[in-house]
Amino acid sequence: MSQLKPLSSHLDSIPSTPGKFKMDKSPYIHRLRYHFSLAKLSFWCFLFLSLILIFFYRAAPPNPNSASQSSSSSDPSRRSLQTPTWGGPNWEKRVRSSARIRSRNGICVLVTGAAGFVGTHVSAALKRRGDGVLGMDNFNNYYDPTLKRARQALLERTGVFVVEGDINDSVLLKKLFDVVAFSHVMHLAAQAGVRYAMENPTSYVHSNIAGLVSVLEVCKSANPQPAIVWASSSSVYGLNSKVPFSEKDRTDQPASLYAATKKAGEEIAHTYNHIYGLSITGLRFFTVYGPWGRPDMAYFFFTRDILKGKSIPIFEAPNHGTVARDFTYIDDIVKGCLASLDTAEKSTGSGGKKKGPAQLRVFNLGNTSPVPVTKLVNILEKLLKVKANKVMLKMPRNGDVQFTHANITLAQSELGYKPATDLQTGLKKFVRWYLSYYSGSGKKSSS
Ligand SMILES: NC(=O)c1ccc[n+]([C@@H]2O[C@H](COP(=O)([O-])OP(=O)(O)OC[C@H]3O[C@@H](n4cnc5c(N)ncnc54)[C@H](O)[C@@H]3O)[C@@H](O)[C@H]2O)c1
Repeated sequence: MSQLKPLSSHLDSIPSTPGKFKMDKSPYIHRLRYHFSLAKLSFWCFLFLSLILIFFYRAAPPNPNSASQSSSSSDPSRRSLQTPTWGGPNWEKRVRSSARIRSRNGICVLVTGAAGFVGTHVSAALKRRGDGVLGMDNFNNYYDPTLKRARQALLERTGVFVVEGDINDSVLLKKLFDVVAFSHVMHLAAQAGVRYAMENPTSYVHSNIAGLVSVLEVCKSANPQPAIVWASSSSVYGLNSKVPFSEKDRTDQPASLYAATKKAGEEIAHTYNHIYGLSITGLRFFTVYGPWGRPDMAYFFFTRDILKGKSIPIFEAPNHGTVARDFTYIDDIVKGCLASLDTAEKSTGSGGKKKGPAQLRVFNLGNTSPVPVTKLVNILEKLLKVKANKVMLKMPRNGDVQFTHANITLAQSELGYKPATDLQTGLKKFVRWYLSYYSGSGKKSSS
């Protein structure tokens, strides 16, 4: 009722017009005042109810199928939990069709992180040889999501459906296993990048630790349990200075939170193998590059910035030490992933119970020939026919290590892994793709 007061006092304050009508004495004016007050009361009630409705609408879980609803706008990896994007008969039909095996000895693989750089190449390669493939990705905006959508479109054309969802959504994962009996999981979804960990540490915990556990939980309860191949990283070698890095070397000195979450992942994998009989293979990738690559990686943004005439930072280790990477071409990584899937033994458990010991492996997948970053820039300059504006900087302490160098003896003997592309050849293919992707349609922007 207090809202009515200003209206009434407002009317009272209107000066009466002598000779025409007296506002305070006319019954018509009383009625008018009554209707006017009623209208104002209704307006405020309507406003109040609308605000309550808006509040509940925003607070309610947007997707009844989502396991976790906590979201943070600063955490790109959580974004997909906010919109309902799966379910229904058509959706199930697409899932089944994508996962259908089309070759005699084919396998049926769920690829997480399928719209990512490595995930797209692995999914396409599996599909090409007749395996059943279903992709999953949350399309987060850690880097330009339009690139992820373009990769998704590419996969669609090869017959791979990429389900939009977060690996922490265990209800969605379980639904996928209800619809398809996956024989294998290629787990590539992760928060990648070493430096971004200082900006958004929780995204690493969300995707690389909680997400991995969520995937393993669903796999362990599935019947039959799938065999799992997942991406660890060369970054687990951290401050290890013995080269080349061998799987037997110490990995207890991570130099970044990213590395620490990958190392934690390797320990978590051990636990699920030990308790539930899951067959698990971890792959330590060494700086993967190539067409459809990741814009946050040096070879990619060097290319962009050289073409734009911008300066590019080149890090120098203490005492003018060289920073070098064991750059590994995407096709070699794909071969290593497929060989890991093909040699993976079956998990031994069923329905969450272990029946016997299961396979547990870790492999380095690198190129075995580290190249100084300065040489990478020289090759790019020649391919792009543009001189780079190089700025030498001291390597900041933000998680990067001075060099990486893989010993691949184990992968060679167990997987038949044999990298075949040198940096010059691989970068040529990357540059060709880059130029056609970013200037081809004239629409896409690499910034
Ligand atoms: N590219 C490399 O040089 C390199 C080196 C070492 C390890 N790795 C590892 O290989 C894997 C693939 O790397 P990439 O280079 O393709 O990276 P990427 O970022 O291109 O691909 C990862 C994909 O996972 C998705 N994703 C992230 N969190 C998710 C979540 N919670 N739920 C669902 N999807 C999620 C992202 O949207 C992205 O499309 C990652 O595990 C990465 O850590 C990559």
